[in-house]
Amino acid sequence: MSAPNKSYDPVEVASLRPDEVTRMRDEALAAIAAAADLEAFKQVRLAHAGDRSPLALANREIGALPPHAKADAGRRVGAARKQIADALKTRQAELEDERDRRVLVDEAVDVTLPWDRAPRGARHPLTTTAERMADVFISMGFELAEGPEVEAEWFNFDALNFPPGHPARDMQDTLFVESEDSGLVLRTHTSPVQIRALLSRELPVYVVCTGKTFRTDELDATHSPVFHQMEGLVVDEGIGMADLRGAIDAFVTGMFGAGLRTRFRPSYFPFTEPSAEVDMQCFVCRGGSAEPGAPPCRTCKSEGWIELGGCGVVNPRVLTACGVDTDRYSGWAFGLGVDRTLMFRHGVEDMHDMVEGDVRFTLPFGMEI
Ligand code: DAH
Repeated sequence: MSAPNKSYDPVEVASLRPDEVTRMRDEALAAIAAAADLEAFKQVRLAHAGDRSPLALANREIGALPPHAKADAGRRVGAARKQIADALKTRQAELEDERDRRVLVDEAVDVTLPWDRAPRGARHPLTTTAERMADVFISMGFELAEGPEVEAEWFNFDALNFPPGHPARDMQDTLFVESEDSGLVLRTHTSPVQIRALLSRELPVYVVCTGKTFRTDELDATHSPVFHQMEGLVVDEGIGMADLRGAIDAFVTGMFGAGLRTRFRPSYFPFTEPSAEVDMQCFVCRGGSAEPGAPPCRTCKSEGWIELGGCGVVNPRVLTACGVDTDRYSGWAFGLGVDRTLMFRHGVEDMHDMVEGDVRFTLPFGMEI
């Protein structure tokens, strides 16, 4: 603050003249009224009520006035500053109010807007089909087993009693990893999981396993180089073909409803003896379309039966490879096609639909997560 100045004539202090104080006040009030938002308001407050505002500077001059002029000038400047302070307070409240109202509108959340427009993913029907198939066995007390998709040849072939020169090992069917002698393949079936289960679990073993399998097939309406199987394996005391038959019947009932017959046709697999192909009666025509003169059935191509997969009594050589005492234990196994099951269960006619990822195919199966 300036030191008292005895020679100061108040009339000469221009900033303290009544008309000048009024002018500064009016200028401030006009600027305050014109402040359109809180940002502009901040500038106006600094300019007209800050330490370096005209009236603050004028106020400093008061101290230098002779005593008789001080009170008068002080009242004048004080009144002007008070008016400005009041106007600032009122305008600030107005602007804050305005901002709050604007924010409420701008940031309002319309809770009535649909929230489910963006499509969300769901599991693929192949996954849910595999799970449903396995569930039938889980409900009977089976456990889920698993194994790798890149598998050692020993698990995929040798332990399953495939002789060294067996045609299924041939490059035609098997996708070998790196060189043919790497000892690794993309598993050609889920049967190697039988071996893994027997080597890693205590007996008795009751397991199912679903998963991807690979062969060198071209993708067409009925083939895919990547397909899916469900493997089943039981090894316990006193187990035979009749138990297998009962388990297959329970599976067909669980998946397709009661009253459908099953049949076994003799077949050959190196890892089962005896071996069979298993069919179920068509769940659509219930076998009727095979009768002479009956209307055709698309599901079973009017054969009356649908092929499910292969099965049999576990070959003792497989059990021996896994260190199982074949005098005490025996078992059965099956391998069923998951893709096939999805196709005939839901009338899917082209394998492409199951691998191309078009949601128009998957949506009708629902959004099961
Ligand atoms: N692994 C066989 C295949 O992919 C299917 C199969 C047949 C599995 C008989 C089995 C079985 O467990 O017992 O063709």
